[in-house]
Amino acid sequence: MSEASQIFTDGKAYERMMGRWTRRVGRAFFAWLDVPDGLRWLDIGCGNGASTEELIARCAPAAVEAIDPSEYQLAYARTRDGAGMANFQKGDAQALAFDNDSFDAAIMALVISFLPDPAKGVSEMKRVVRPGGWAAAYMWDIPGGGAPIQPLHDALHSLGIDAPRPTSSGASTKDALQELWEAAGLASVATRTLRIEVAYSNFDDFWDSNAVPVGPIGKSLEELSPQVKAQLRERLREQLPTAPDGRIAYEAFCNAVTGRVPER
Ligand SMILES: C[S@@+](CC[C@H](N)C(=O)[O-])C[C@H]1O[C@@H](n2cnc3c(N)ncnc32)[C@H](O)[C@@H]1O
Repeated sequence: MSEASQIFTDGKAYERMMGRWTRRVGRAFFAWLDVPDGLRWLDIGCGNGASTEELIARCAPAAVEAIDPSEYQLAYARTRDGAGMANFQKGDAQALAFDNDSFDAAIMALVISFLPDPAKGVSEMKRVVRPGGWAAAYMWDIPGGGAPIQPLHDALHSLGIDAPRPTSSGASTKDALQELWEAAGLASVATRTLRIEVAYSNFDDFWDSNAVPVGPIGKSLEELSPQVKAQLRERLREQLPTAPDGRIAYEAFCNAVTGRVPER
């Protein structure tokens, strides 16, 4: 079983923890991409279909293929009302099972940092997109502290625990994305930082959303003793930006990149 299949094992919990935030970013991302309607799309690392649903809502695609290594994520994706037109199937970003020039556009939404070899993922994306087409991605700025789960990392760190990060976290900075896209030979490369508000109605909403066994940090929480978990909750209560009515809100930000496959 691949690492992704071991850490993304619950599409429903993923939706509450991350899916709703990727959909919020997706709105800004697709508006920024500003590509024509009616394209043939590939959503690489589609997960539970949150990015796919947003793609369909914003880009009026002609067709959508969506791949992910996690059957758990794919099972949830296939139940989405807003993603019925997509064909969800198992696949690997670093070895795409599609012919050259199969798509007009391809995206990786919150995926590049999970790839052991991000450059291979970008070259695969470029290979399957036709000349003149678009290859684009976005990823939380992990080194910059932009991920919605950053407060959990901060609280754990203050307890002397450094929770695991995705394998290629460094690939999520604006400079790294720009370099990856240029090194792959993509043209007209552009980057943009996209910011959203992440909000929870109260502490329990924050905890129940994020203390789930999904993703690198969620899986690592499972291994904490009840005592350390209690300390973590206490630390979060002290550190989270909480309004008098209990609402918790802060900014999350990701870096987006786009490029065109050169004409031959
Ligand atoms: C944070 S989720 C993003 C899912 C979705 N695109 C979204 O925006 O919500 C990361 C996804 O990357 C997938 N993933 C990990 N390794 C991958 C690989 N080698 N190829 C394709 N997807 C991969 C995981 O299974 C997971 O569903």
